[in-house]
Amino acid sequence: MIPNLKPSPKQSLFLSSQADETFYGGAAGGGKSAALCAEAITSCLEDEGHHTYIFRRTIKELKQSVLPELYKQLGPYPFKYNSQDSTFVFSNGSIIQLAYLDNEADKYRYQSAEVHTLLFDELTHFTQDQYEYLKTRVRSEKPRLMRVMSASNPGNVGHGWVKAYFIDGHPPESIFRDVTGVTKMFVPATVSDHPNPTFRATYTKQLEALSDEALKRALLHGDWDIFSGQVFTEWRREKHVFSQLPLHLEDCKLYCGLDWGYNDPTSIHWVAQAPENEAGRFYYVYRELYGNQTRPEDWAYKLAEYFKSEPVQFLAMPHDTFSNLGGTMPIVQQFRNIFDKLGVRVPIVQAPSGTHQHKINRQALLHQLLSDSTLGKPYLQVSESCVNLIRTLPMLVYSDLRPEELADKQDDHSYDSLTYTLYSIASNNFSAIVAPKQPGEKPKAPYVDEDGNLVGAGLDEMMAMAVKKTMQPRGRDWIYRR
Ligand SMILES: Nc1ncnc2c1ncn2[C@@H]1O[C@H](COP(=O)(O)OP(=O)(O)OP(=O)(O)O)[C@@H](O)[C@H]1O
Ligand SMILES: [Mg+2]
Repeated sequence: MIPNLKPSPKQSLFLSSQADETFYGGAAGGGKSAALCAEAITSCLEDEGHHTYIFRRTIKELKQSVLPELYKQLGPYPFKYNSQDSTFVFSNGSIIQLAYLDNEADKYRYQSAEVHTLLFDELTHFTQDQYEYLKTRVRSEKPRLMRVMSASNPGNVGHGWVKAYFIDGHPPESIFRDVTGVTKMFVPATVSDHPNPTFRATYTKQLEALSDEALKRALLHGDWDIFSGQVFTEWRREKHVFSQLPLHLEDCKLYCGLDWGYNDPTSIHWVAQAPENEAGRFYYVYRELYGNQTRPEDWAYKLAEYFKSEPVQFLAMPHDTFSNLGGTMPIVQQFRNIFDKLGVRVPIVQAPSGTHQHKINRQALLHQLLSDSTLGKPYLQVSESCVNLIRTLPMLVYSDLRPEELADKQDDHSYDSLTYTLYSIASNNFSAIVAPKQPGEKPKAPYVDEDGNLVGAGLDEMMAMAVKKTMQPRGRDWIYRR
């Protein structure tokens, strides 16, 4: 029998769902990934030329979990596995594509794909934007069954949106239609769904031994109300978000900080530090810029526009923007050059960012600032216009490997730009400062102007060639190609 799997009643309910989008979520070990793999195989065998895409966040996770499960369920069935592009190919022209979204740019791999069955394993590892984008690839010229099916444990970067999207306000195991007309169903998973009693007993024992109560409730009982691993549990939109700045910017010290990315987003925040009062210092995050695939010069021009009329104490940038390891001029120097050209005299400081201790300190500082002052309001508030920061802060989760630290693979750019700024204000001790040039001073290092020309003090032909060579992009995120 192919697939080689006798589904449990819960798996059957999931697999026979008639909803456009079905979500099998909850406790660990109930057979969620196995059910997705069974769906991948049946959709391909029952329909000629069917394209099934099965997503996990990283290729490594696909190879560890989905790939062996597909092999197991396909057993002796004749298929070809093309390891180069991670595709299972069947003789009727159907394919199962193993797919991943390790970073934001990976989604462009799938921009011309035609997907018929779209499957996500561990959906809470994905952002809603990624889910929505990939759904736009589900299309066909021929009438056929097309659907989106996902599985997940609670508690990761996507916990909040997945819960709101499939679970909140609707009874489980029945189809409902949302305001956009899409039909959805949530199938709750528990470890007792697993058909094998020995597996059930040993796995339940393992989960019961977990000391983290929230994690235990999530993995053992599939509890979606507790968000295991959430870092900023104190975040409350009602008190941390403001619509109107309660004071004048002219009365504050202003700061700006940036997290650099080219394919990943660049995120920039402005923070106003209010004059000290009896309860301490209050901070207001009052502006955000966010976006990707924008060159350093273009960001620098944008920032310069603001800085001209509203000077800040400094612009904080992380350590990687100060290095030229990848073989190009440091990002920070590209900003400096534009600022100097436009007469913007804001110093650029290196946010203490590279080490484990810096990460922990940034987290601790933000916890401190989100707490309530003696006036009853928190030390830090965020303008409602900073939509990326407001989305990001409550979603951040701890790392599985280093439980005291934030997880690596999450959408944390706006957290970074905010905490680089705050930590720079707090530490007031910078390992590097790129100060503005004095008027009339010649540039010290050769640099590239906004038209892409090499400019430098006394640059001869050979020097120019050497510099040009070191500026070839070598595939790092923060390097751009004209
Ligand atoms: N119906 C079934 N019959 C036999 N074995 C099954 C069945 N469903 C799942 N299994 C096996 O049980 C194990 C656990 O299943 P699976 O990995 O699908 O669980 P899961 O719910 O995805 O777990 P996790 O929450 O850890 O991702 C796997 O080895 C899988 O092959
Ligand atoms: Mg699984």
